[in-house]
Amino acid sequence: MKTLRLADGTLVPALGLGTWRMGETRRARVAEVAAVREAVQLGYRLFDTAEMYGEGGAESVLGEALNGAIAAGEVRRDELFLVSKVYPHNASRRGAVAACERSLGRLGLERIDLYLLHWRGAHALADTLAAFEQLEARGRIVRWGVSNFDLDDMRELFALDAGARCAANQVWYSAGQRGSEYALLPWLAEHGVATMAYSPIDQAALARHGALAAIGRRLGASAAQVALAWVLRRPGVIAIPKAVQATHLRENLAAATLELDAQALHAIDGAFPPPHAATPLAMN
Ligand SMILES: NC(=O)c1ccc[n+]([C@@H]2O[C@H](COP(=O)([O-])OP(=O)(O)OC[C@H]3O[C@@H](n4cnc5c(N)ncnc54)[C@H](OP(=O)(O)O)[C@@H]3O)[C@@H](O)[C@H]2O)c1
Repeated sequence: MKTLRLADGTLVPALGLGTWRMGETRRARVAEVAAVREAVQLGYRLFDTAEMYGEGGAESVLGEALNGAIAAGEVRRDELFLVSKVYPHNASRRGAVAACERSLGRLGLERIDLYLLHWRGAHALADTLAAFEQLEARGRIVRWGVSNFDLDDMRELFALDAGARCAANQVWYSAGQRGSEYALLPWLAEHGVATMAYSPIDQAALARHGALAAIGRRLGASAAQVALAWVLRRPGVIAIPKAVQATHLRENLAAATLELDAQALHAIDGAFPPPHAATPLAMN
């Protein structure tokens, strides 16, 4: 598995599993728990969730699957890297602490490895950071970060005392959404903030894209794998595709070792031109 080093020295996998749309219905739960368990067996070690997903349902699915895998000896807790997020409306000094405790309860775990502010809301960033620092001091989270923060938000964050301790910014980054390459991604790299690329296959749209499929045929890969390998070509970027279907889980993991040659990169630039000016960050 391709890895990258966070600013605090921790090595994390460059590819993880997203969980949005999991935990929304009782009917799908058994299949979702099985999918996460299968992901562990295949070698996934990084998992992304949020209190928002299924209003706690995704955290509960993840918790059941991961605790099952730990109890069965398939993985150790210290091999897993768990990411969750607080709703902006819960991100006050006391609210974020309480929200994190609820998330930990649903996950059935003692700590979250990376806790993110899901997007900017009405609470002052300084208050959210105070909560994050308190959770860190209590060992309930190991580190914190943000999500959907554009360059001006990052600058505002870094102007705060604890701001530069932000470990990651999770943003929509894919071949179809590459506006952040112009300014935000270079800024994050320069400041030691990891980029987590969400919706890296544009919620399945890129898996059906003709140009990516053509590149894939030449390289012996699927269009989705080309889309993921393209995101992962950038140092300091973690991709978190969501998948429930076993074929998707396998394909996506294998994409972490797919190398795109110059011809493929050129063809992708043709189909998805790189940005020539700063564009506002897109949000899913
Ligand atoms: N921070 C934020 O604001 C934010 C926003 C959006 C997403 N996220 C995170 O990022 C994760 C990923 O983003 P996403 O779920 O929006 O979209 P995505 O990962 O780009 O796409 C997921 C969709 O693609 C399908 N798929 C997965 N692998 C495939 C493959 N190899 N071939 C064909 N289809 C494939 C999945 O199908 P199956 O499920 O049927 O296998 C699912 O329908 C989320 O789950 C969430 O954890 C964060």
